[in-house]
Amino acid sequence: MADRNIELELFARSHPTTALQGLLEQLEGDRALLEPEALPARSRALDGLERALGLDVGDDAERARADALRGWLEALDRALCDGLREDLRRGGGGAGLLDWAARCFIAETETGEHYDPLDELVSGVLRLPAPGDEIGALAEEMVFYQPTPARHVFDLLRRLSLCADDVVLDLGAGLGHVPLLVAACTEARAHGVEIEPAYVASAQACAAELGLRRATFACADARAVDLGQATVFYLYTPFTGAILRQVLDAIAQQARSRAIRVCTLGPCTAVVAAEPWLAGDARPPSDRIAVFRSR
Ligand SMILES: C[S@@+](CC[C@H](N)C(=O)[O-])C[C@H]1O[C@@H](n2cnc3c(N)ncnc32)[C@H](O)[C@@H]1O
Repeated sequence: MADRNIELELFARSHPTTALQGLLEQLEGDRALLEPEALPARSRALDGLERALGLDVGDDAERARADALRGWLEALDRALCDGLREDLRRGGGGAGLLDWAARCFIAETETGEHYDPLDELVSGVLRLPAPGDEIGALAEEMVFYQPTPARHVFDLLRRLSLCADDVVLDLGAGLGHVPLLVAACTEARAHGVEIEPAYVASAQACAAELGLRRATFACADARAVDLGQATVFYLYTPFTGAILRQVLDAIAQQARSRAIRVCTLGPCTAVVAAEPWLAGDARPPSDRIAVFRSR
């Protein structure tokens, strides 16, 4: 799509009206965009329309057509998300979400920390309340909020095969995507610990709205929480340096009495991979969630 956008931009500069017209004709004639499973293609089409409208090309009639087409494609996505959301609210579980993740997105070939249409789908299903503007500053070594890309969460769920006895603890849970998806799509319980109160409030409101009772959240510093219930620890590099060291030592203490798994994404993976009490890939990929087991 990036190449198409550059082409469109170059073309638009020399043919300010026909660029939008060409795009409209192509998209309006593409009946496949109507299919529910055309979510990724719709996302690309919406990108193209946004881009063309942002370039201020086309006459009034073309821009109105583009606007109408955008609204129409967005409504199709909304209807898809509404259905999946209703499944969750009625207690039907996340089978629909899992099906989407399996059919359309393959984590093995989609590495990296970028976001894709699956994130849009998850966001349309969860509809997390915006956390507001009053986000506190983080102390040194604490890492700012960024959600795990959804394809990595689903990839992790496939590989973990969680059961009802599992408890997933997300240390530095942000808005809670990981615990929410664990509770929605598996039988396990999930708990998110997050230092920013506004994120915790959003995650709790979302869990309550969707009836995800197995997802719970607490506002706390990860160094101060009870780790005793968790069977799976998840860290999307929430902190570095001495904080990471202190939390890993506390998790190692837990591993002395029971089998646990530690899952990581981002730069903290290299630190965790060097822990002698954990077994796993000696050189785990830096752009996919790594899974380690206690020895
Ligand atoms: C990279 S984000 C990961 C978010 C979430 N785990 C996910 O994967 O979607 C890191 C989060 O850790 C939180 N955080 C940083 N230091 C923390 C600490 N000491 N205790 C609890 N949360 C912390 C940040 O506020 C931020 O929301």
